[in-house]
Amino acid sequence: MAEIAKDVSRACQLLQNGEVIAIPTETVYGLAGNAFDAEVVSRIFAIKNRPSFNPLITHTDSIDKLQHYVQEIPRNARLLAEAFWPGPLTLLLPKTKAVPDIVTAGSGSVAIRIPRHPLTLELLAMLDFPLAAPSANPFGYISPTTPAHVEEQLGDKIPYILDGGRCEVGIESTIVGFEGTQVIVYRLGGKSLEELQEVIPKAHLMVKNNAKEQNPNAPGMLTSHYAPGKKVIIGNLDELISKYDASKIALLTFKDFYPQLPEQRQFILSSTGDLTEAAQKLFYALREMDKLPIDYILAELVPDYGLGNAINDRLIRAAAEHK
Ligand code: TXA
Ligand code: MG
Repeated sequence: MAEIAKDVSRACQLLQNGEVIAIPTETVYGLAGNAFDAEVVSRIFAIKNRPSFNPLITHTDSIDKLQHYVQEIPRNARLLAEAFWPGPLTLLLPKTKAVPDIVTAGSGSVAIRIPRHPLTLELLAMLDFPLAAPSANPFGYISPTTPAHVEEQLGDKIPYILDGGRCEVGIESTIVGFEGTQVIVYRLGGKSLEELQEVIPKAHLMVKNNAKEQNPNAPGMLTSHYAPGKKVIIGNLDELISKYDASKIALLTFKDFYPQLPEQRQFILSSTGDLTEAAQKLFYALREMDKLPIDYILAELVPDYGLGNAINDRLIRAAAEHK
């Protein structure tokens, strides 16, 4: 069992001793270790059971410190960093030699972000190295948004979970890279396209790796990820409910209550239709539903704007066939 507490000095000491611990961020909990120590980073991969070709995000607490980790900061990257850090945005930038190849899975770019959680910012300021931290869940499963989620799955593999309460954003950071004047979004997340467009003109913003735009008929194209153990099926809920045995299903709804099913079998993401609230509750709801004695989670997509884009991306990946 991991110790769960709010002691930043203790967390700092463990990290300085080369331990891997869980830390809170505003998006999801991270599984953190010294990004400059390749041996520590290899333990992060092992604890998560993550394939070594999938690189890790590096977390720091100030733009000034970036000069040690990255060779240059393109103009668009600086504009985004100044507008949105600390916050749920990750930038892909050319790395320096200080960042070991294992962190970036051999790529010349390192993914960097300044997270917006007071405890973790305090912790990062005490350390003289940045923290490599993927989401603190076993590979392929839903990201954790509470200390209890981390404890349930990784509690026997790490000594400490820094307790920062429930994550405010609830969905992972938006990841962007830079090619000339183009800003490429590789993962939709806690910063919406509309927010990025306030800083970068629309013509220079391009989304790659959008789950919805991939061809669902091509096997392997829709990567199963963020997936609970139960089968997730997306569609019109009235139609889906009529097709399944009521005792075997639970509903993940955006804002409506469906009278066909008892209250305990439906999770409403936001009864007022607020996408920020819906994002915050999404992974929490999927984890709770995964514990119910049912076979299928029936879900509906949310409106496709703002954080709705990222929520729908996660729902579609959760519904993709397991490999
Ligand atoms: O909100 C978040 O981003 C959370 C918190 C803990 O910061 N972290 C997170 O990490 O979601 P993870 O490892 O679960 O997802 C990071 C994603 C992966 O899809 C990985 O492939 C991509 O970022 N990534 C990391 N480093 C990269 C790099 N150098 N080049 C391209 N993609 C990279
Ligand atoms: Mg993850």
